[in-house]
Order: sequence, then C-alpha cells, then structure tokens
Amino acid sequence: MCGIIGYVGKEKKAQKVLINGLEKLKRRGYDSAGIAIIVDDKVKITKASGKINNLVNILEKDEASLGIGHTRWATHGDPSEINSHPHKQGKITIVHNGIIENYIELKEELITKGYKFNSETDTEIAAALLDKLYNETNDMNKTLVEFQKQVEGAYALGIIVDDDYETLYTIKNNSALIIGINNDENYIASEMTAFNEYTNRCIILNDGEFAKITTNNIQCFDKDGYEIEKDIMTFEKNVDDNNKGIYEHFMLKEIYQQPDIFKKLTDFYIDMNDNFDLLSEKMPDFSKYNKIVIAACGSAMHAGLIGKSLIEKYAKIPVEVEIASEFRYKDTQFIDDKSLVIAISQSGETADTLEAVKIAKQHNSDTLGIINVPNSNIALNVDNVLYTEAGTENAVATTKAYLAQISLLALITLSIMNNNNNITNEEKKEILTAFRELPEQMEILLNETYRAQYKEIAKSIYEQDRVFYIGRGIDNYLGMEGSLKLKEIAIINSQAYAAGELKHGTIALIDQGTPVIAIVNNERTIKKTLSNVKETFSKGANVYLITNEKLKNSNKDYYTIEIPHTIELLQSILTIIPLQLIAYETAFLKGTDIDQPKNLAKTVTVE
Ligand code: AGP
Repeated sequence: MCGIIGYVGKEKKAQKVLINGLEKLKRRGYDSAGIAIIVDDKVKITKASGKINNLVNILEKDEASLGIGHTRWATHGDPSEINSHPHKQGKITIVHNGIIENYIELKEELITKGYKFNSETDTEIAAALLDKLYNETNDMNKTLVEFQKQVEGAYALGIIVDDDYETLYTIKNNSALIIGINNDENYIASEMTAFNEYTNRCIILNDGEFAKITTNNIQCFDKDGYEIEKDIMTFEKNVDDNNKGIYEHFMLKEIYQQPDIFKKLTDFYIDMNDNFDLLSEKMPDFSKYNKIVIAACGSAMHAGLIGKSLIEKYAKIPVEVEIASEFRYKDTQFIDDKSLVIAISQSGETADTLEAVKIAKQHNSDTLGIINVPNSNIALNVDNVLYTEAGTENAVATTKAYLAQISLLALITLSIMNNNNNITNEEKKEILTAFRELPEQMEILLNETYRAQYKEIAKSIYEQDRVFYIGRGIDNYLGMEGSLKLKEIAIINSQAYAAGELKHGTIALIDQGTPVIAIVNNERTIKKTLSNVKETFSKGANVYLITNEKLKNSNKDYYTIEIPHTIELLQSILTIIPLQLIAYETAFLKGTDIDQPKNLAKTVTVE
C-alpha cells in the first residue's frame, strides 16, 4: 500500500527518478499516483488517478533536481485525482504513507485557523498542520518535533518546504522509510527497491526520527530534535528482480525461481556432508521455550500452519498460529518469557503483524521474524530475524516468499530436532538426501508435461463460480494456500476444508460438476481422506487429485496429478507448486490481471 519516493541531486533528472521509483513501488498496491518537483522556483504538482501511465501521459518535459512522488492506495476518500498525493497546504507539500488516526480533531482545529481542504484525505490535514507549525516557528526542526507530539497514527512523509527548494525532509513513525545515499544525490523511499538500481548504501530511520536531506548532506534527528549519528548500511543490488525476463508474468517467473531459492536457503543452513552442525550454528537456540506462537496474515499465516504441524510433530514444542489481526486484540495472550513469538511476513511491513510483535514484547516474550524484505519494519523490531532470501517479489500474490517461509520452518524444525538429539544417523542420511534431491524434484513439477496437466485442470475450472480444496493436516493447509491463490488471481470463489469436516455442512454446496481439488499426501490418513473424496464424487463433484507417487492411487474416476515423493518435512514444498500453477493457468485462461489482481495490495500497512 502507498509508496513514497523522493530525490534530491545533481546527477539525474528528478522527474525520471520519481517515475522509475513509482514503477517499482506499484506492486505494493495503488490506485492513483502523483509527483511534485521544483520547476522555475515553484512546486509543480502533477497527479492522476488510475495507472502510472495516466500520470506519465500528462507530465511535461521538466528538468528538476528535487522532487517527491507517491503511489496511493485509497483509504480516506476515493481514488480520485484530487485525493492523490502530493498535497500542498501553504508552504508545505507532502507525500504520505500511513494513516493519521486523529485527523478529524486536527481538521476541526485547523479549520478554525482558516485552513480549507480540497480532498477527503488525512494527508492534507497533516500538510496543513505542518504548515501551521512551520509558520509559528520558521524552523523545520521544531516543526517536526511538535508535529509528532500532535499526531497519532502511522506516517512516513516526504516533505518539501517552499522556503528551501534544495532540501527534502522526511519523518517516520510506524511506516517504513529508508534514505538512499549516493555521490551528489540522495533518495528517500518506502523500500530500497525504489532506488536500488542507483545505489546500495542507505540509512534506516527508526520510529520518531526525522532527516534533513540535501544533495551532499544528510542530517538525522531524534524525536526531540537532537542530531544523531546513523549507521550507513549497504545491501545487495538486485536489478534482475525488477524485470520479467522470459516470463509473461512476474508470478510465473517467481514460481520458476523456487528451486533456486530453496537450494540457496538450504546451502546456507546445511552442509550436505555433516551432522547439521552448520544448522545449529546459524539457527537461534529454541531450547528455552515451552511454547511458540506464530503471528501472521494471509499466506504467511498459512505457512505458519505448516510450521505448526512440523514443529509439533517432530520438535515436540506446542505451537499456536494466530491471525495477527486477531492476536493483537485478544483479551488474553497466553505468552510470557518462556514463549517465542514468530512473526512471518514477506513484506516485513504488515501493520497487524508488526503490532503482534510489539504486544509480544509487552509480555516479555522473545520475538523472531521470518521476513523477506531486508531491514523492513518488522525485521527491525524483532529480537532475531531469519531472512527468507527469496529476492524481491513483484507479483501481488505470493509464491516464492511463501515457499521460502515453509522451507525455513522445515529448517527450524530440523534444527530443534537435531539439538534435542532426536534424529538417528539413518534418519540424518535420509533427510540429507531428501534436501539434496528436492530442487530437482521441484524442477520436474515445472516441466512441460506437468504444465499440460495444470492447464487441463484450469480449462475445466476457469468458468466455474466455485471451487473446493480438501485435505487433512498439512494437505488442508496447502489447500488453504492454493484456494487463496485461486481467489486472488483467478477471482473464483473458492474454499478450503479439512476433508473430514466437509460432511458437517459444506457438502451441501457440492453439485453436479463442482470442482473439488483433493490433496492427499499423508500415508496415515489416505484411506479416510479418499473416502471423503468419494463422498464428494458421489454428489457429482469433478475431482482433481494431487497425490504423491508413493501412494499409488489407481482410481480412474479422478483426474490425478502424481507428484514426486519426499520426506514429510519437505513434501509441502513440492505439493504447493501444482496448486500455484493451477491458479496461474486458470487466471491466464480467464484473462485476469495476474500480477496486480483487483482490490489487492502487496504491502498491507493498514489495520
Ligand atoms: C498472499 O498472496 C497475499 N497477497 C497476502 O495474503 C499476504 O500473504 C498477506 O497480506 C501477508 O503479507 P506479508 O507476508 O507481507 O506480511
């Protein structure tokens, strides 16, 4: 949701840098965009609703060395041009990511001081408040200190002041903001992706901090306005992540990157010739916890459910999985200093997950982040972080980051098992072989023969109005993720059910031809699950079975995709691939917007 980019420098044309940055930020989710640049000693604002191209089409050829830009995801007011950022009030022009919670009270007060508002946004109120405070003091430092005292909520701001067109100001609280550093030019952005093709040096602001940025200088201040020294960090440039390469969609590219991502993660944690010594060295010590709580949203929460099954079964620690937005408002969270709260998040910015971390800390629980975006808000707030290292995920619907999350959860499980001396030498050998073979097995699921099968299923479901996914245990959790993918990108109403639960009501929805995708991988429950599958078939369902080769299903009534078999710890990493690609092929046939599905934002920074 909402993305900020800002530039001040002699090296490049500000307008070009801003548009380029907005293009990179658009995957976070947006419905309008705008920029403000300094031209002929004046602030020139251009904005447009809809796609960034609408903005590009109305831009003039202006040369500027300072500017701010914004992709807006409408929260206060519709996605119209008037509500788009930047907003200007008096001498202050701003772009904003976040939500000002007390904007109504502030607005009433500002109206009494003579301010008039054109938009329905909370951002315009923030601009007016900054203008009022600046007029009282003529000092941006004092203005920003006072601003923080008066404003409640989340904000990252890029600010231009009319009295000084060579300086960019920025401030943040509970929303991400990073300063990019280069020779004779500096940047601000919601995330590094927006400027990572120009520089790999940055400063990360903490909540309450603000900065004054010119072409050659960056001064950072704490919330009381005292100048502070900030570390300059460097990060890996990954320009390749910003293009689709040979693939028609980012989502497809990201699905195909998965074997490499798994291999990279595994190589980091496991020395294939040893006894998991490397794993113990690199993983945190889990021995002091008597309970783990996983807090996450959407797909990350689905990954958490798989983690729960694995950790409970193999590492013998009780695990609860909480939807972060529920966890934060529970009256009682049964956690203490013997609990570990794991926050799983691709973006590292999800507001509810971040809040869950803060609540965990209030209860003296340790916190661990499983995060994809380096140095993101959640990564900076947890006690310990394990990065999923999946690279930039451009498609809104997550695939590779989810796969990296379940891979990391398998590695955590293994690490606890190993530290508990819970693995025999024979098992160690079997596990190492499974890890070694997995990337190749994943590649098999991406080959043309398998693709043809996913396309077959897609052909028979893309015109349906509902699809069911059923399975038991981990297979049910995978069904939840497969179903979410189908909803997100193919816009088909779909539900995932524990196979045994279907007969308790939902089976009433199965009619002649209703598609049921059954995921059956567990040897222990195969008979029971297949009898649930049969129930749906006898009610007229078209059944698509995803099972592994070891279970040898010979029932010709079902369209069956037989996937490679591996150990239970890793089977979900294989099973998810057909589910991702069935959703992709279905959306492709429907002709929906696969990378930017309607109504969805990649980075959900509001509650
Ligand atoms: C998945 O495809 C979704 N777009 C969504 O459910 C996502 O997983 C959720 O919003 C959590 O995001 P996060 O991982 O960035 O915290």
